[in-house]
Amino acid sequence: MDLSTKIAGVTFRVGLMNASGALCVTQAELEALGESDAGAIVTKSMTPLAREGNPLPRYVAIDGGSINSMGLPNLGYPAYAKLIPGLKRFKRPVVASLAGLHPDDFLEGAKALNAAGPDLVEVNLSCPNIPGKPQIGYDFDETERLLEAIRDIFTIPFGVKLPPYFDPIHHHKIAEVLQRIGVTFVTVINSVGNTLVVDPEQERVVIKPKGGFGGLGGRIIKPVALANVRAFWKIWGDRIPIIGTGGVENGTDIFEHVLCGASAVQIGTILVEEGVGVFRRLAQEVTECLERKGYPSLMSCRGKLQEMD
Ligand code: SIN
Repeated sequence: MDLSTKIAGVTFRVGLMNASGALCVTQAELEALGESDAGAIVTKSMTPLAREGNPLPRYVAIDGGSINSMGLPNLGYPAYAKLIPGLKRFKRPVVASLAGLHPDDFLEGAKALNAAGPDLVEVNLSCPNIPGKPQIGYDFDETERLLEAIRDIFTIPFGVKLPPYFDPIHHHKIAEVLQRIGVTFVTVINSVGNTLVVDPEQERVVIKPKGGFGGLGGRIIKPVALANVRAFWKIWGDRIPIIGTGGVENGTDIFEHVLCGASAVQIGTILVEEGVGVFRRLAQEVTECLERKGYPSLMSCRGKLQEMD
């Protein structure tokens, strides 16, 4: 089965990859992705300096998903810039995820990444877990200012990772900004930020940072993810590729994302739970699903979701 896709001119032999954050912080984790059946290697979101991240416990699997408040633990731009050229030996696209705590961080990171030469850069506008730092993607003016400045620096195609939006006016407003900037892809969605899971036995929260508030991922957020993929597909069609993220546990979930309009799919919670072997299982399952439905390739069902008359 042809599971290939193309994003911003870059060919992916398989349109499945890790979501930034899932098993992609260290060199060993990135190399394990390179040796797996993942279609690309996506790095952890990087900041200028290495970060330990938030205090533990900061990730907990829950019924139907996970809650996390990792706080961007990462090795820092200089370390990833050194690692990226070596990751090319795995012969699949390398996607660098760029974050920052201040606008200048992103600009510095853009310069470091130009030199390192990943295939694509995913600018993370949506981390919900840094105390006192809002998710940039919810501030449309700030998003535009930041992306204008980044665009002037990047020589590599870049896209953005967005938070979930819950109202069509917000989909339209951010879409207008991203079109003006000329981003080459969008990844939707990051975790559903600032949710709260309660342990009724202990009568307390389940993660330590931010008083227990954290980003929700996994199967329970699939309808939110699909709605965001679909909303952007309805605005852009195939003009700006969409990477669907959120709630993928099996081949049918991948099919649903692509049916809604995704050009590729990222895997988060279930990758953390199952390890990199998950990519082989998912590729088999989505192949079976496509064969059963008579589609000759993954992209042949893209956007074909039917609405009711
Ligand atoms: C984190 O490191 O807190 C998660 C990153 C993100 O959600 O963007």
